[in-house]
Amino acid sequence: MVMKIITFSFLICLFSKLQGHCKSDINLGFTLPLSAPIEYTPGFIGKAYIMETETSSRREPSFKAALTMESSEYKGRYLCSIQVFFGDVRVWSSGHYTKMYVSNKCIFELTEDGDMRLKRSNKRVGWRSGTSGQGIERLEIQSTGNLVLLDAMNMIKWQSFNFPTDVMLSGQRLDVAMQLTSFPKDSTMFYSFEVLRDKIALFLNLDELKYSYWEYKPIENKTVNFLRLGPKGLDIFDDNSHRIGRIEQPLTRFLAIGNITGNLGLYSYKPDKGKFEATFRAVSNTCDLPVACKPYGICTSSKSCSCIKVMSNGDCNSNEEEWLSMKRLCDHEMVELEGVTTVLRNGTEARNVSKERCEELCKKDCECRGASYSVSEESCVMYGVVMGVKEIERESGLSYMVKIPKGVRLSDEKSNVRKWVVGLVGGIDALVILLLLSGFGFYYIRKRRKSLSQPQPQLQEEPIAE
Ligand SMILES: *[C@@H]1O[C@H](CO)[C@@H](O)[C@H](O)[C@H]1NC(C)=O
Ligand SMILES: *[C@@H]1O[C@H](CO)[C@@H](O)[C@H](O)[C@H]1NC(C)=O
Ligand SMILES: *[C@@H]1O[C@H](CO)[C@@H](O)[C@H](O)[C@H]1NC(C)=O
Ligand SMILES: *[C@@H]1O[C@H](CO)[C@@H](O)[C@H](O)[C@H]1NC(C)=O
Repeated sequence: MVMKIITFSFLICLFSKLQGHCKSDINLGFTLPLSAPIEYTPGFIGKAYIMETETSSRREPSFKAALTMESSEYKGRYLCSIQVFFGDVRVWSSGHYTKMYVSNKCIFELTEDGDMRLKRSNKRVGWRSGTSGQGIERLEIQSTGNLVLLDAMNMIKWQSFNFPTDVMLSGQRLDVAMQLTSFPKDSTMFYSFEVLRDKIALFLNLDELKYSYWEYKPIENKTVNFLRLGPKGLDIFDDNSHRIGRIEQPLTRFLAIGNITGNLGLYSYKPDKGKFEATFRAVSNTCDLPVACKPYGICTSSKSCSCIKVMSNGDCNSNEEEWLSMKRLCDHEMVELEGVTTVLRNGTEARNVSKERCEELCKKDCECRGASYSVSEESCVMYGVVMGVKEIERESGLSYMVKIPKGVRLSDEKSNVRKWVVGLVGGIDALVILLLLSGFGFYYIRKRRKSLSQPQPQLQEEPIAE
């Protein structure tokens, strides 16, 4: 079901000398109320543009600041925020961390003592810049897209660049320990792009669990201090402001971490198409994204999702939250999946262990849900989620084990061979992405056999009915 989106845009701004152009600043004492329809309207988006930058080139869109009201997941409540747009792309929002809900009215105010506020109709403040009494003279949207509060000396007292959202603009700086975050809708899960001392990396965050799925390290173990998006691409600097790394992509206007995919993209403007497009993506293969398939799904080489039938109904399409809820799995056993691995990286590692020991370690740890094992490195990495699982070559020397409830039986159980059949899950329903099912992916998993005296059973391939 597609929800109808109703957008109301207002250009409530103080016009400058140039006809039809908003001014790029606002003085103290400015207030602007915005109202939603009396009857609650799902899909409603109301925007009142209050400021706009003067574009230097006609070929690129300008930055605009707007007071916005959007219908929310709570019926009868709207989200109220100040947002910055670059063309159609939202590049900053006061609601990224502080969500302010209102019933039908939202008021923007730049107070006489220099505080920028959002208020509800009952005058209660829901968000503020916290800059009262700091000598603020005006609010300005700068040519970089930075929303700033300036004093009489034109000193910046508050800036949106200090509160990164899911987008980093050209000219913006991201210091070590800062991050961009992206919040997929209706989920406790989020992605982050983080600047660490030794690398920059993408992370999947779930409750207290955190796993990386992409990273970039600067040359020769140099220490990272900050990042900046410059004219040649994303530059990485050390403590002496020397450039120690670069993801080259000229003309990048902003970098964004995808809401749904968790991919990191560098975007530039395509005047012929009139929109921004990603010219670089950190993860180029869909199967290397942690959410290419739902939890317990396997991203196959044909780019479809197969489902590991571990739960009673064996359905990857069942409620996502259920999969992600951190139930303790204590009385479970392990199955080994052939020819698969996970794209997640930094689970809890045990070095110098055998595969059997790895299996034991995960089995004993009630928080462990899956583990990957590398034969060559004798290393066992344990994970609290079964996500980012993808098909790889069978002779890779890697194996992946998943915890399953004891005594779960397979439809096709024969003599001493316990075989797990993994069904196919439609690409459209599977969370996200996968372009489509071309052909079928079959998966065969078998219980790791304890006794070496038994001969290795042949794996039979059988097609699975839809
Ligand atoms: C980088 O670090 C690794 C491991 O910490 C070390 O083996 C290597 O010698 C270091 N390289 C340089 C150039 O410092
Ligand atoms: C993220 O999702 C929001 C709506 O949920 C949308 O307005 C925004 O443009 C998205 N951001 C990106 C970078 O796709
Ligand atoms: C993975 O690395 C991040 C950043 O270093 C860390 O915060 C997180 O706890 C690590 N995850 C695990 C499971 O160790
Ligand atoms: C691994 O185990 C072997 C023998 O048990 C030992 O000699 C070796 O030092 C261990 N390696 C590491 C990295 O712990």
